[in-house]
Amino acid sequence: MDKFVIRGGNPLVGTIRVSGAKNAALPAMAASILTEEPVILENIPDVRDIETERRLLVSMGAEVELGYGRAHHRTTLCCRKLVNPEAAYELVKTMRASTLVLGPLVARMGRARVSLPGGCAIGARPIDLHIKGLEALGARITQDHGYIEASAERLKGGSIFFDKITVTGTEDLMMAAVLAEGETVMENCACEPEVSDLAALLNKMGARIQGAGTPTIRIQGVDKLHGARHRIIPDRIEAGTFVIAGALTGGDLMVAHCEPAHLGALLEKLQQCGVNIRTNGDSVRVIGEGPFAACDMATQEFPGFPTDMQAQYMALATQAEGISIITENIFENRFMHAQELVRMGANIRVEGPRAIVRGKTPLSGAAVQCSDLRASASLVIAALVADGETILDRVYHIDRGYERIEEKLRSVGAQIRRIGEMFPRRAAAS
Ligand code: EPZ
Repeated sequence: MDKFVIRGGNPLVGTIRVSGAKNAALPAMAASILTEEPVILENIPDVRDIETERRLLVSMGAEVELGYGRAHHRTTLCCRKLVNPEAAYELVKTMRASTLVLGPLVARMGRARVSLPGGCAIGARPIDLHIKGLEALGARITQDHGYIEASAERLKGGSIFFDKITVTGTEDLMMAAVLAEGETVMENCACEPEVSDLAALLNKMGARIQGAGTPTIRIQGVDKLHGARHRIIPDRIEAGTFVIAGALTGGDLMVAHCEPAHLGALLEKLQQCGVNIRTNGDSVRVIGEGPFAACDMATQEFPGFPTDMQAQYMALATQAEGISIITENIFENRFMHAQELVRMGANIRVEGPRAIVRGKTPLSGAAVQCSDLRASASLVIAALVADGETILDRVYHIDRGYERIEEKLRSVGAQIRRIGEMFPRRAAAS
């Protein structure tokens, strides 16, 4: 299992490039199920979850070509001959977003067998709202041996109200409704930029979707979709991670190829903390001068403060003067990083959905363990400012969603290296 060895103390200086968004690329790849024609996606991040999605689609009979060299970050998908509408437990257990194939499979094939994802480090994360929505579109759903079986001759347009705002739930049912008979109205939808990006792709494929990015989405079903070419939006969470790293290391960092408008709540909060930030076109410049002031923060659905930036913000709060109260409103168990930060010298007390962080406390290098994707990013940031050497174990978590983070950070001055076998290169496209 790979580890990172990080020696703290170096300011990050220079330009760091943001990759495409994992959470936009995954639903976009699933959307290719909805047509027999090729779908070409650009700006696909080279991360482990994309490889899992490729294997999932290939296991159904799809042809998926992940680009190399000049075509790196471009993917061509063709689901002309889907033979096995199933998402097996072996794949779903490694990546919950595999459940995003449920809606497209029922819409295109009339049936789907998808493993229930099971528990997750950050919370229970059920998919009951996906199922309820599919039933509202006329699907018959049974559960058997850990699998959801869904079927429908043709889905029928209907109205869906989400009891809770769900990102992949909105995406899954949007993909189901585009081939349904008649109109579907979805309310209390997620407004994340990734949802809008998926709708943009689907509309290029011939779908008729209005209102994506707002709480109410209207979808006029069509009989057939065609192929399309689409560029995936930049990864706002990767961009946010680098902005906080730049601020904390006292550097002068240009985070480029991102979409500052997608980072609104985060940048506003960081400016409240006294971080010097300038946005310009597709980049954010952060000049880490310090000291930073402690500010309370509560995670919310977009356009609120993203839960996927909570852990990284906690690392900043350990270096801010005063008490920061961090409230996690989206997931019930998303403070696994807190105890690892305490091992590095932070002063954090977790009380249910709140973490009370007292700063500023000096951090010292230690052996720490990654527990999930964003917790890992928080530990990398803390290690960049800690005294001495930190050894991060289980970095396979970070490889799931950050493209070669150690190379990117080293290119702007970080002392970070990977030990162990680099995550296995993608098997030659089979
Ligand atoms: C997406 O997960 C992201 N993943 C997550 O990013 C992100 O943390 C999350 O949205 C919130 O922003 C992808 O897009 C692939 P939800 P998702 O459904 O869709 C509850 C990362 O680090 N809920 O919006 O699975 C759920 O338990 C990952 O990149 C139900 O109760 O999250 C949670 O409390 C981690 N029933 C809340 O809703 C359902 O059927 C929001 O979850 C669905 C969700």
